[in-house]
Amino acid sequence: MNAQKVILDCDPGIDDSLAVMLALSCKEIEVIGITVVCGNVPVEKGAANVCRVLSWMDRTDIPVYKGAEKPLVRPYVNAEDTHGSDGLGETYFPPANGCTVKSDAVSYLKSVLSSGDDVSVIALGPLTNLAQLLLCDESAFCSIKELISMGGSYKSHGNCSPVAEYNYWCDPDAAACVYNAFSENPKLKHKLIHMVGLDVTRKIVLTPNILEYMKTINPDLGKKIEAVTRFYFDFHQKQEGIIGCVLNDPLAVAYFVDRSLCRGFVTHTEIETEGISYGQSLCDAFKIWNRPCNSLVLTEVDEKKFMLLFLSGVLGADLDEASRILDSIMVRRERA
Ligand code: BDR
Ligand code: CA
Repeated sequence: MNAQKVILDCDPGIDDSLAVMLALSCKEIEVIGITVVCGNVPVEKGAANVCRVLSWMDRTDIPVYKGAEKPLVRPYVNAEDTHGSDGLGETYFPPANGCTVKSDAVSYLKSVLSSGDDVSVIALGPLTNLAQLLLCDESAFCSIKELISMGGSYKSHGNCSPVAEYNYWCDPDAAACVYNAFSENPKLKHKLIHMVGLDVTRKIVLTPNILEYMKTINPDLGKKIEAVTRFYFDFHQKQEGIIGCVLNDPLAVAYFVDRSLCRGFVTHTEIETEGISYGQSLCDAFKIWNRPCNSLVLTEVDEKKFMLLFLSGVLGADLDEASRILDSIMVRRERA
């Protein structure tokens, strides 16, 4: 099977970094470029972090493009409280050599997507770069083969307000623009945004036990993962009351590779841009609005299967051994 061409649009970010590692480890994916958006950290810091990860993975050949420096309309609010002032858990790893960061992400997306190649986008941050692409070249935007977006939530509570998830809360106007296009634009009639929201990502928890296991399989990468996630562990204990950290963005990559990891439903989703609930994703599960479907909203996930993919892909774990170990250390939830 030919690897599928993918552009990662991200804002690294601790979990974005792990998602980049995963994407680079999957033979089913060919990462042809990485675009960076302001989100967890300003775009300059995000691009430097992409370069760090590329150098750890020995893949500085992949081009990196800086994109939006601020959301479409709202003032920019970073998430350095969650990801640390450097975006990588205050590890301050030295800048990477051999990686060139270019501008600008939107022109890059436009040229690649207009080329006629089948290219999908996995969006791991606010949707500002993609909304800008839509506003400047609708036809290039409509050529995206598949759009996977980590963002939003259906029933799960928000992480930036009681109802809003960070990526859509940071730039609700961009998210609304992208979701509206998928419901209104005739060229996108048969396409859906795959919404990998908090309902599924909250179930993917990197626990101290799994982290210990990672270090035994691949000490070098395992220790880097430990270093960058320490800050994230502390944040999750304070904010979410869990010991461990949620791997939001890696699930979006894993789902792209293996659709059997998640299940959900197809519906119309609206993104609120105003008032106290701005950034909320309203998924019309009962088709009350009777509006065109624009999204596949994921609600169920096989956590063990995800972890196996990550452990074998990124760290090189043996699948049988990893499966036995995960059975002994993971809290299994029944699939609804
Ligand atoms: C999302 O927001 C960011 O903090 C993470 O990187 C992830 O993309 C989760 O709400
Ligand atoms: Ca992110």
